[in-house]
Amino acid sequence: MRSSPVQQSSSSPNPVPSAPEAWSQRFEGALHPAIVLFNASISFDIELIEYDLTGSQAHAKMLARQGIISEDEATTLIAGLEQIRQEYRSNQFHPTVEDEDVHFAVEKRLTAIVGDVGKKLHTARSRNDQVGTDTRLYLRDQIQQIQQGIKAFQAALLKHAEQHVETLIPGYTHLQRAQPISLAHHLLAYVEMTERDWQRLRDVSKRVNICPLGAGALAGTTFKIDRHFTALELGFDQVYTNSLDAVSDRDFSVEFLAAASLVMAHLSRLSEEVIFWASQEFGFITLTDACATGSSIMPQKKNPDVPELVRGKTGRVFGHLQAMLTVIKGLPLAYNKDFQEDKEGLFDAVKTVKACLEAMTILFDEGVVFKPQRLAEAVAEDFSNATDVADYLAAKGVPFREAYNLVGKVVRTSLAAQKLLKDLTIDEWKSLHPAFEEDIYAAIAPRQVVAARNSFGGTGFDQVRSALAVAKERL
Ligand code: ARG
Repeated sequence: MRSSPVQQSSSSPNPVPSAPEAWSQRFEGALHPAIVLFNASISFDIELIEYDLTGSQAHAKMLARQGIISEDEATTLIAGLEQIRQEYRSNQFHPTVEDEDVHFAVEKRLTAIVGDVGKKLHTARSRNDQVGTDTRLYLRDQIQQIQQGIKAFQAALLKHAEQHVETLIPGYTHLQRAQPISLAHHLLAYVEMTERDWQRLRDVSKRVNICPLGAGALAGTTFKIDRHFTALELGFDQVYTNSLDAVSDRDFSVEFLAAASLVMAHLSRLSEEVIFWASQEFGFITLTDACATGSSIMPQKKNPDVPELVRGKTGRVFGHLQAMLTVIKGLPLAYNKDFQEDKEGLFDAVKTVKACLEAMTILFDEGVVFKPQRLAEAVAEDFSNATDVADYLAAKGVPFREAYNLVGKVVRTSLAAQKLLKDLTIDEWKSLHPAFEEDIYAAIAPRQVVAARNSFGGTGFDQVRSALAVAKERL
């Protein structure tokens, strides 16, 4: 959605703001100019305008259907609201800070367009149920877009996975070489993580998609409204059954921010791996010029700014989750102005997650090139096949713990002799244990080591191929 700049009042060079027009005659004095600014949310809740217009159109339709306003009046209101939508989209809607928030700004403009009938729109509702409705419509939309972003990112990972089922990469625990694995298996782990993210967002959507409209300020309304009609009109699955809960529930925002935080945590973990894979020490990937940046002073540098930024931006989303929890923790029922503080963090989290998903998708589509030769060298030059020697003996009847201890000794003596396991002669193997035979060499070759881990969910090539097929099908 486009946003249009919010302007300061231009009515006079030295404006003395009066009580906002939308407030009742109870107010005589003017609001302090600094408080006008402090109170206003229009600079950021303009983000909700399209949802506010849609919500108001449904409300007007319901009012007419229930005989609360006439059909003609509803038609006029709906057309006026549509005109505001067009004005906004063509960058011709410029509310000022005196409008306070998007809801007042729209109502004021509507009344300017359609005349006094515009003042009927707010019958049987409050900004409290209105803002809750807008926020839910916004978030429902954004969640769908984020879910699409997740699918696009998974597609980029799957393209690499398809090419690299039989490319080996060291697998780590404690960031120490552990056992070699299929590169596709490694990437598919992130497909699984983000698939849970996708599902979590779908679950959150169920609780986002409940309609508070018609709860009024807090207690319902004296008018014979039809809340189920507006809810249905706006595509909500349910209506809130308690009006106090309806206007004071922000659990859905907390849930969304928690789900968004996990998306970021997953992107951040992968970013960290990309960053060290690109380092000279690892050298597992190169970054193409499309996705790497240079240094202003060191001409040889090619920096992984994209994953670093994703990793860095993760903190913002975590922070917004914490802030939202803190906003709600001490609030008595029902609406409190504190709720105005629910928006900027939410909007920023949405934008951050979308931007990071897009950047990571581009990074894997165009930026990351794996180096199979370097990866092959990496898995050949270590002791990550030691478990396989123990498994070899265990398969021949030696109790595993005994085999494990023996191989530990082999690794120690090999290290001292500056040899790898593959370099031991058959006589050396046999002197360690009579069960060793010529086939030990085949058993500890990296390819075989990976292929043999064919238990369900393991890195064996057959397992990875079927996991890949399942992931592609799901996409
Ligand atoms: N701008 C307000 C918000 O974001 C709208 C609701 C104001 N309600 C009120 N009772 N003052 O929460």
